[in-house]
Parts: sequence; structure tokens; C-alpha cells
Amino acid sequence: MKILAIESSCDETACAVVEDGTRVLSNVVATQIDEHRLYGGVVPEIASRRHSENIYAVASQALTDADCALADIDAIAVTYAPGLIGALLVGISFAKGLAMAAGKPLIPVHHIAGHIAANYISHPDLKPPYLCLVISGGHSHIIEVKDYTKYRVIGRTRDDAAGEAFDKAARMIGFEYPGGKHIDEAAKKGDPNAYKLPHPRVEGSKYDFSFSGLKTAVVNLVHNAQQRGEADSISPCDVAASFQKTVCEILVQKTMLAADDMGFKTLSVCGGVSANSGVRAAMEKVCGERGIKLYLPELKYCGDNAAMIGCQAYYDYLAGKRADESLNGIATLSLDRICGE
Ligand code: KG4
Ligand code: ZN
Repeated sequence: MKILAIESSCDETACAVVEDGTRVLSNVVATQIDEHRLYGGVVPEIASRRHSENIYAVASQALTDADCALADIDAIAVTYAPGLIGALLVGISFAKGLAMAAGKPLIPVHHIAGHIAANYISHPDLKPPYLCLVISGGHSHIIEVKDYTKYRVIGRTRDDAAGEAFDKAARMIGFEYPGGKHIDEAAKKGDPNAYKLPHPRVEGSKYDFSFSGLKTAVVNLVHNAQQRGEADSISPCDVAASFQKTVCEILVQKTMLAADDMGFKTLSVCGGVSANSGVRAAMEKVCGERGIKLYLPELKYCGDNAAMIGCQAYYDYLAGKRADESLNGIATLSLDRICGE
């Protein structure tokens, strides 16, 4: 079964053709990062406009790369939640038009479910149930993946997402948006023990994250040095390494707590921050020590892409999920609201 998948929830216009949930026949991503970088973050109005301008060409390219005509496609899939509402609506409207005109079924896909499915592409042996750490620019979740379409959110961030914290810390030490990958690079040259940064305390659920205190600690570190006229004494590489080390410790600690309590011996990590070399190494180390089988996505499937949406759409299709012309975008929608038990 060939699915043409469309993703436009944030600042990437992406289309892919995926066969039977694992074979990626094409994967086209048109990123808008260069333009949003000028503003230090994603400007929703610009994102929507660029999606409108790009989506036809991106979808055509995805069909061409897959050596397919629309007639060869069995279903159209689209991300409908969560995300920037104007951005989502571009992909949804395009997908609805395509599905109706071509007489194909329309499959609505949750963006986080898509990130989780990114690991099925590279690892066909990964099968639910397992524990999943989702770390992206907008989300940080520990999720029990009960089945391909059934989830329980065990922990979530109370404030900033992991990627958001990376981007904000990066900005403070002078890196361009999105700063996650710059921190990753700088951290390789820095001393992770140069600065002692706090592990935020989170009251209530022991599996919840909080990253805003850590971000504030970096802000204070830089501001205080600037006020003392000692800005030059701050080493961006040392701050990057210390920050990344602390984020890794927090992610490892919470995820392992959940894995231990619930007896999981299989873990997957996904989302834009799963591209981080420190996070990958820290997870590999701790999972190796504890005999936990770890699955990480290929780098090209960590950030937003439509291949992961096409992969998840296959399982959603098998589970009977369909949308009609009334499909709407939803800016905020917890995964277990629609797919829990
Ligand atoms: O999953 P994603 O593409 O978009 C959302 O669904 O939010 O994640 C984007 C986030 C950004 O915050 C970006 O800085 C971060 O992923 N990111 C990284 C790295 N590559 C991307 N963070 C740390 N290290 C990286 N190598
Ligand atoms: Zn994403």
C-alpha cells in the first residue's frame, strides 16, 4: 500500500511516499529555517505563507522521486495536530483537495505519533509495547507505546520542551536559531564540568520534566558575567557542553526511572533533539549498562519530515482511521486524548 504523506505543522513543508509503513520511496523536505532565523524563531504567518507557496511543488517532487503518478497512490495522509494552526491548515486543505479529487482515502495523523513511527522506518524489528522518549522543539514526553496506535503519556514537560531549551540557551551564548545543533557542535569542544547547572525540581509526577529553570540558569550565567564586564570570561563551548550534559542527565534520569518502574527493556528515542550526539551517546551508555534495547532514528528522520507521517499513517489506516472533508487542524491535542485507552 502506497501512501502520499503531507506534513506542514511547523516550518518544514514535507511530502513523502511510503509503502507499507516501512519502505520510504521518497522524502522531500523544504525547510524555511533560513527565513525564520532572521527573527530568532518561527513566525507563524510566514510559515503558513511559505507552506502555501511550496506545497504543490514538494508534493509533485515526492511523486516524481517515488516514480509514482497520483493514480498509483492508495491513500493520502496528513498531519492534523498538534502544531501551528495556520501551518497545519495548509497541509490539511491540500490533502483534502487531493484526496477528494483523486477519490483516495484520507488518513489524519498526529504529529507526535509520526515522530514515534520514525523508528519503525529504520528498525522493522521494533514492535510495541515499548517505552518512548519524544524530544522535539515543541514537545518532551515519556510515552508508553502500547500498540502502533495506542499510547499512554507517562511524563511530559511542565514548561519548555527540550528543543526549546536548547534553542533558548543557544541564543544566550550567541548561536543562530535553531541553536540545538550549534550547541551540539560547540559542546564537542567544551568542558562539560565547567559550569554547574541545576537539575530542576518537579513537584507531582516523578516522570515530568522541567527545562525552564535550566534555561534561566544559562541566562543568569551570561547576564551576570556581562554586568560584571566579564562577558569574555564566558566560554560558549563550555556553557554548551555543561548545558548539554545537564539536559542529558535529566533525560536519562527520568526515562530510566519510568523504564525501571514499569519494567521496560525496550526504549526508543525520537524527535529533533534525538539527533543530538550527546543525547544519543548518553542513552546508548545507560541502556547498554542496563540491558535495555535502544532504538534511535536515522538522523534524517529525527526532525520534522513526512516519511514518519506516511509510516504512522499505514498503522492508522490498518486501525481504521479515516477523515473526510470536515477534517480540521488542532493546535494542541495530547496523544492520549485521541489514541489512549
Ligand atoms: O522535531 P523537530 O524538528 O520539530 C518539532 O516537532 O518541534 O525538532 C526541532 C528541535 C529544535 O529545537 C532544534 O534545535 C532541535 O530539534 N535539534 C537539536 C539538534 N538538532 C535539532 N537539538 C540538539 N541537538 C541537535 N543536534
Ligand atoms: Zn516535530
